[in-house]
Amino acid sequence: MARPDAPVGVFDSGVGGLSVLGEIDRLLPAESLLYVADSGFVPYGEKPPELIVERSRRIAEFLLDRGAKALVVACNTATAAAIGDLRSRYSVPIIGMEPAVKPATGATRSGVVGVLATTGTLRSARFAALLDRFAGSVEFITQPCPGLVECVERGDLDGAELTALLRDYTRPLLEAGCDTLILGCTHYPFLRPALTRLLPADVRLVDTGAAVARQVRTRLAESGLLGDGPARPAQFWSSGDIQRLRAVLPVLWSEPDPAVAVLPF
Ligand code: SIN
Repeated sequence: MARPDAPVGVFDSGVGGLSVLGEIDRLLPAESLLYVADSGFVPYGEKPPELIVERSRRIAEFLLDRGAKALVVACNTATAAAIGDLRSRYSVPIIGMEPAVKPATGATRSGVVGVLATTGTLRSARFAALLDRFAGSVEFITQPCPGLVECVERGDLDGAELTALLRDYTRPLLEAGCDTLILGCTHYPFLRPALTRLLPADVRLVDTGAAVARQVRTRLAESGLLGDGPARPAQFWSSGDIQRLRAVLPVLWSEPDPAVAVLPF
């Protein structure tokens, strides 16, 4: 039986989910947090859904074995591929991501919205259902963005390669009249400063990190599992290069010198 002082387990294909972890930490500072970066398998966006389901299951079990009282799938691609499977297997609250289609319909004035996301997210049935539900009179133009996740993984948030990719991906959206861009992958909020430099000032950027943190709070409260602290320092695991995670954490996470270990599978 889970207890309120148990940790919340969060995972992503890599370091992108740290954008969501940060929102959870800001909203719920009394919660202890565990984070898995599946960086040995990043990017999920170009991988077959079966592999993503398998990795998500193994990571969920790893976090549950460490006492997680709730799971946050801080990855749009993994949510699209695996959240149904996870919810059918585990009884803890499981919160996932979805591209910010609903907020974008309220934000746009031109009625044309661009969606930046991975190929896996854009191809998923879950994303098609989301568009069906909320699109209404708004036109959505989708833009797969291979390469962006890899830039964020190596801590490149404003280099020449990244800037060229952002220019290529946003140009057709701007030409089509988009005034609102959805950051439909948890890696992309880290690119807000680079995008803001590149885009006209009236283009709005929307993501769902803060909304997901609020959803975590709601689900924990409903289950009687809201922590009241004090939180233990966050713990991190990576299935990829641990030195690389150590190098990017100071840029992407707030605590100095966090505990980092190898994910053993
Ligand atoms: C990826 O691993 O390709 C991106 C993760 C996401 O969709 O949030």
